[in-house]
Amino acid sequence: MTQRTLSIIKPDAVERNLQGRILSMIQEKGLKIVALKMLYLTREQARGFYDVHREKPFFDSLTDYMSSGPIVVSVLEGDGAIDRYREIMGATNPESAGQGTIRKAFALDIEKNSVHGSDAPETAYREISFFFSQMELVG
Ligand code: CMP
Repeated sequence: MTQRTLSIIKPDAVERNLQGRILSMIQEKGLKIVALKMLYLTREQARGFYDVHREKPFFDSLTDYMSSGPIVVSVLEGDGAIDRYREIMGATNPESAGQGTIRKAFALDIEKNSVHGSDAPETAYREISFFFSQMELVG
């Protein structure tokens, strides 16, 4: 089934100029980029985006980090895109990420883990709508 998922290239990766290499890894695996932009999140926007983690001990640190520098957000499309992108990213903790994954290659630690991807169809819909209007989706 064709799906769409949200990808974020996080501040640690943009700061190291890795966005091109990460987008290449995504494209080489056959996912299509149907929307793309670079922006800063305010602290409040980051807190809104990660609202589901509000009660977690890492929430303040995560949202400070996510608003610390520019990010690259994109919408990826393809058959089973949500799970496929999660495989391309690798595990949240880079120490557990498999060879050839983005996080194995680039993540610094469990927080500064270079990329985010939606984890389910409902979250993908919410997260895509958070960043993009219908007009910005080219599919
Ligand atoms: P992400 O896939 O964007 O989803 C939530 C983010 O919280 C996660 O990637 C990490 O950046 C961060 N995160 C998850 N678990 C931890 C943790 N135990 N400590 C610090 N940050 C975490």
